[in-house]
Amino acid sequence: MFGKKKSGITEEVVMQALSTVIEPELHRDLVSLNMIRELEISGNDVTFTIMLTTPACPLKGKMDGDCRAALAHVQNIGEITINWDANVPENQRIRDQLGQNFGHAIAIASGKGGVGKSTVSVNLAISLAKSGASVGLLDADILGPNIPMMMGQPKMPPPQNKKLIPAESHGVKFISMAFLSDPEKPMIWRGPMLHSAIRQLLVDVLWGPLDYLIIDLPPGTGDAQLSLAQTLPLSGAVIVTQPMAVAATDALRGLKTFETLKVPILGVVENMSGEFFGTGAGQILAEQNETEYFGSIPMEANVRVGGDSGNPIVTAYPDSAAAKAFADVASKVAARVSVMTLMNDSSFIPIEMVG
Ligand SMILES: Nc1ncnc2c1ncn2[C@@H]1O[C@H](COP(=O)(O)OP(=O)(O)OP(=O)(O)O)[C@@H](O)[C@H]1O
Ligand SMILES: [Mg+2]
Repeated sequence: MFGKKKSGITEEVVMQALSTVIEPELHRDLVSLNMIRELEISGNDVTFTIMLTTPACPLKGKMDGDCRAALAHVQNIGEITINWDANVPENQRIRDQLGQNFGHAIAIASGKGGVGKSTVSVNLAISLAKSGASVGLLDADILGPNIPMMMGQPKMPPPQNKKLIPAESHGVKFISMAFLSDPEKPMIWRGPMLHSAIRQLLVDVLWGPLDYLIIDLPPGTGDAQLSLAQTLPLSGAVIVTQPMAVAATDALRGLKTFETLKVPILGVVENMSGEFFGTGAGQILAEQNETEYFGSIPMEANVRVGGDSGNPIVTAYPDSAAAKAFADVASKVAARVSVMTLMNDSSFIPIEMVG
């Protein structure tokens, strides 16, 4: 500009500008969170990578806009290119207890049967995988396993060196007792056997590194919930409820079970919302228990068809309202566990607690 000294763009000015951008959920700036990586300046053009704690971050759009707005104040700024990357940190306690490299283990639960736990588990797992995360799905419904059918893959590969190899479909690795038992001969098991079966499906499987392990629980408040909580440190439980008040009472029992087991409640999903069952119980349940409401999944025939045919709705009809709702819930769950992990990290001090 006339009369003004032309200032070159430096790393310092760019970082200074980006240090005014606040990560919307962690309430701290992107620079002090060490999220700005690979900054390159070429003439007046700026390129950098934002390193997220989950690839399924729901607030990329907002952060992108906030960064561009902050950089607009830098004199002579040229083209801005923002790349995205994500790193879900390994959970050291899971490594110590199971010898597995998982970022987060997340249980999907409800006190009630038939509310859609398995459907939610499958569609959340696939949505997370679509966002770029490595995802496993454990069918912890030992006596009534449905995951292989819903994933469209009834067989697992042969074991290697006495380790089970998970099946894989729709970008998700999964394991189920259905692979190891005869559906014509229903099992009658006692608690200790259930416990060892769940443990085996966690430990004796070559899962490989996973960002998220989604765990589909059987209905109820009993042995499986207890075994799971005793076997590994869960990041938390997502409670599924139907939209009517009576169903929410059962979901509440499920929620309280996890509270008793000292497993964090991540939040509530309402499933099968719409004209038939109404809507509302999920939100009320979340509010009454001071937890997050992740949203509602509408009742749609294609959700059921997707489960029955092994082609879940998030892959079969990704543009449907239900698929979009699943993707939205998945990114909120991922954001929630990221935030909880950082908040529990003693070296992390949220900005509102500083000074
Ligand atoms: N949003 C939805 N719209 C339509 N049908 C749905 C929806 N969610 C689940 N269903 C259907 O409802 C039935 C029960 O769902 P699902 O098996 O996932 O429930 P569950 O809670 O895992 O049951 P269980 O307690 O027996 O394990 C299935 O046939 C499924 O396809
Ligand atoms: Mg189920």
